[in-house]
Amino acid sequence: MKHSVSVRGTILTAACVGILLTSMTYVSARAILGIDLGSLYMKVALVQRGAPLEIVTNMHSKRKTEQMILFDEGTRLYGSDASSLMARKPTKTPVAMSVMLGRDEDHPAVKILSERHFSLTPEYNETRKGLYLSIDGGKQIHTPEELTAMVLHYAEEITHQYGKEKGHTYGDITDCVLTVPSFATQTERQALLDAAELGGFRVLGLIDENTASAVNFGMDKTFEEPQIYLFYNLGGSSLQVSIIKFHSYEVPESKYSKKMKRVGSIEVLGKGWDSTLGGLAYDNRLVEYMADHFNREWRHARGHDKDIRDAPRAMTKIRLQANKVKHVLSANQEIPVHIDSLHDDLSLSMHFSRTQFEELCDDLTKRATDPIIDALASANVTLEEITAIELIGGGMRVPKVQSSLSTVLGDMELGMHINSDESMALGASFYGANISTAFRVRQVGLVDISPFAVGVTLEDLETDEEKKSGEDEDAWGKKATIFKANGKIGVKKTIAFTHDQDVHVSLDYSDPEKLPIGAKAELQRYKVSGVSAFAKEMEEKGLGKPKVSLQFELSQSGTTALIKAEAAVEETYTVEVEVEIDDEETAASFNETNEKETENKTEGSAESQNDTSKEDISEKEEEPKKKKTKLVNQEKKKTHRKSLDVEIYYVGKIQPLSKDLIEEYKLNIAELALLDKGRILLEEAKNKLESYFYSVKNKLIDDEENVAKISTEEQREELRKLSMEAEEWLFDEGDTADVETIQSKYDELATPAEMVWFRLKEMTARPAAVKALNERLVEIEEKFTNWVTNLTHITEEEKGDVFAKVENARKWLSDKVDAQAEKAAHDEPTFTSEEVPLQTKPIQKLISKLSKKPKPKPPKVEKKETEVNNTDDKSSNEGDNETVSEETFEETKEEESTSTDADEKNIDSEENETDEADKDTQSSEQPTQDDETGEEL
Ligand SMILES: *[C@@H]1O[C@H](CO)[C@@H](O)[C@H](O)[C@H]1NC(C)=O
Ligand SMILES: *[C@@H]1O[C@H](CO)[C@@H](O)[C@H](O)[C@H]1NC(C)=O
Ligand SMILES: *[C@@H]1O[C@H](CO)[C@@H](O)[C@H](O)[C@H]1NC(C)=O
Ligand SMILES: *[C@@H]1O[C@H](CO)[C@@H](O)[C@H](O)[C@H]1NC(C)=O
Ligand SMILES: *[C@@H]1O[C@H](CO)[C@@H](O)[C@H](O)[C@H]1NC(C)=O
Ligand SMILES: *[C@@H]1O[C@H](CO)[C@@H](O)[C@H](O)[C@H]1NC(C)=O
Repeated sequence: MKHSVSVRGTILTAACVGILLTSMTYVSARAILGIDLGSLYMKVALVQRGAPLEIVTNMHSKRKTEQMILFDEGTRLYGSDASSLMARKPTKTPVAMSVMLGRDEDHPAVKILSERHFSLTPEYNETRKGLYLSIDGGKQIHTPEELTAMVLHYAEEITHQYGKEKGHTYGDITDCVLTVPSFATQTERQALLDAAELGGFRVLGLIDENTASAVNFGMDKTFEEPQIYLFYNLGGSSLQVSIIKFHSYEVPESKYSKKMKRVGSIEVLGKGWDSTLGGLAYDNRLVEYMADHFNREWRHARGHDKDIRDAPRAMTKIRLQANKVKHVLSANQEIPVHIDSLHDDLSLSMHFSRTQFEELCDDLTKRATDPIIDALASANVTLEEITAIELIGGGMRVPKVQSSLSTVLGDMELGMHINSDESMALGASFYGANISTAFRVRQVGLVDISPFAVGVTLEDLETDEEKKSGEDEDAWGKKATIFKANGKIGVKKTIAFTHDQDVHVSLDYSDPEKLPIGAKAELQRYKVSGVSAFAKEMEEKGLGKPKVSLQFELSQSGTTALIKAEAAVEETYTVEVEVEIDDEETAASFNETNEKETENKTEGSAESQNDTSKEDISEKEEEPKKKKTKLVNQEKKKTHRKSLDVEIYYVGKIQPLSKDLIEEYKLNIAELALLDKGRILLEEAKNKLESYFYSVKNKLIDDEENVAKISTEEQREELRKLSMEAEEWLFDEGDTADVETIQSKYDELATPAEMVWFRLKEMTARPAAVKALNERLVEIEEKFTNWVTNLTHITEEEKGDVFAKVENARKWLSDKVDAQAEKAAHDEPTFTSEEVPLQTKPIQKLISKLSKKPKPKPPKVEKKETEVNNTDDKSSNEGDNETVSEETFEETKEEESTSTDADEKNIDSEENETDEADKDTQSSEQPTQDDETGEEL
């Protein structure tokens, strides 16, 4: 969707982001997620109706979730459920899948990953043109897109769970904004978009990590004067620097208002990065050093030439230790390191000083300032123009980095006002709320840029035969940069050229050497056909060569695409038309027609500027006005247009998923989801059986005395036996049983057990119900007598019926009680406490009917008209009352079966209502329509 607000064209045409402040208004209730996949942890932020932005905590109440899935026995575990088992099941647990998106196995970030998590090394699939992981010895083969999709889907699950705890229910959560590093290439971005689609998400946009932080930082601030910030983000695996300008401008408060309001704006001016310099790089220096150290000791002790790097478990220990050393040295000068029996019964014992560490990492630290220079240069901003610096990212804990920054930044304060872990997810969800139509929000403009120039190459789309015939020396071709480096994103560009052949279009990054290490320059390829046929058609009409226009987009998510391809030929001809003269009015409408025509022609075409209106079509002449007219020759133009066929394809080692693969993977993922659900049902069935047999055992002991009253020793023995059997079964063959078998085992025990528990319950419930019914019958008799005494329209017979029914109920009850007295307590009872209250039903039905019986009309006739009108109103109200009282009768019967307390309450209110009803009976004449509804109730 388009979200530009052309308030101050120059800034806002590229993009405009409204930012939510406290005064949010919402068009509809929806939840939008901001998801920061990071490299190892996923953070999720939520925007929803009537609540501030918040970080979603996971099932373990953590604010970040491991990017990790454990594939175990056909089902999946996520987050810390997976991480707690990872050490035991490393080959079943892929991690950090988003790092592999759109990259090949030689990409430095992917390599570091395989070094750290060696159990699962990604491999390249030539057919698919992408990486895959062979999980659990090949039992599960998944691409990074699929794995990321699962993690993203888990984000939705976490959010539902989080909402439930707070009493919110969301429908399907489909809208999200995802963060990406500022140097993410189009292939990487596309792979992430594909993953999100597989995960069932509609991506509102991708946003750069630093930009998202800036949005989060700037959203609630107003900058009277423009201020330029430098965001320095040293994360776990990369360094990103952004130069960002915060300012504000005035816009009218509304379309119809001249009052102005101030709106904030965030403009990214430049970016710099080091895609492999992060906290991990520092850790690795220590790891290497410690490994070398151990190898030397090892050689010394055992006299061989082995490498500790071949021992995965030992390396894991070293890595953990290295990370600890790094953190300790940021606050201390020294740390002793000892890892007991690290490997081959040898311990690692050494000493680290901060100086030593700084020396080890000297080159890294030097690299830490280069991206600042790059970012300033790309922003065309000098250090003097920078107002403030904000540091983000866990990498800032590395000693020396901060002092090294000072050498470049001088004595400027290094601000740390931003939550490194959460600002990106929060900023992303703000952004989402702003570009979504579901939220109407206060605007803050956002302009972001793409650091990479994109070029287009045009060639003739040769057929195979032509290709075979060899290279054409003077083949047609064109090359141009369509999106320049550091240009705004969210823009469209059209190129136009005259041509009569089908065209091959290549989009590529223009400066491969400026791309991050490991990135490829190739973007899309397009075959644009239909030009040649159209050219022939035009030629036959005697017209010239077509003008081909190709429109390209650089989207808000930083991806390019050819979005429109069209060929056009303009035909000029003259016609003789009758024109009115000397009449202003007509002249005006003349001009008007003219403009309309021009407008239409201009639409959607970048080079129709020539269609200025020298020609005219005028149908006005037909108007039967007696105006003077004359005949003139006019030049007319007509544009023949043809939209062209476009076929996209890709080249290069890593390519996006095809439509077919996306469909296939969606099915795979749905199948896995079904298995997960099956596992959950199975676990529930097992838990149900397990807790049931324990409860049977316990009850037999805890409530022994009472149970004995209503069961025989034989019956109790059976329950003991059955529960014991069920327990043994569950931990033996039941372990692999399916849900149905487990359920039938449950029934086997539950059927006899429930009969005993029922009698136990009835032992007290039945006498209570008998007592309650007897009291109730007395009460009904009393109330009815009171009510009916002065009502002449109720006949004696009708009254008699009611009393007879009361007697019936009494008889039923005493018969049942007598029959039960004959029975043994361990036999099936003759009646249940539930049946008892139902005995008042026929009585109440009859009373309800009588209460609706029409009363004789009063004799007055004179005032009837108005009275009737009045009473209509009134009686409908009063009728309501009456209905309520009847309802109360009805309701009472239902309450009775559950609670005697509630019963009493109802009777109280019923008494009041009945008084009311009495008054009604005297004043109102007829039953109203409401009564009918009453009857249905
Ligand atoms: C490679 O990709 C093709 C096409 O998607 C697929 O059929 C094949 O199973 C894949 N092989 C592996 C090992 O993933
Ligand atoms: C950089 O900024 C300076 C001063 O603001 C300006 O004169 C110059 O044209 C700018 N250069 C570019 C390439 O925009
Ligand atoms: C008609 O259009 C011409 C040129 O656009 C303009 O100069 C002229 O004033 C217009 N006439 C009227 C009556 O609007
Ligand atoms: C403008 O073009 C559309 C289709 O391209 C056509 O339906 C419409 O009638 C045209 N309007 C005028 C004023 O010529
Ligand atoms: C538009 O007019 C200019 C000069 O008037 C001419 O050079 C150009 O070729 C024309 N373009 C089209 C699309 O007719
Ligand atoms: C019935 O009517 C008589 C006389 O009008 C009155 O005294 C008595 O209280 C009434 N009884 C009831 C139950 O309303």
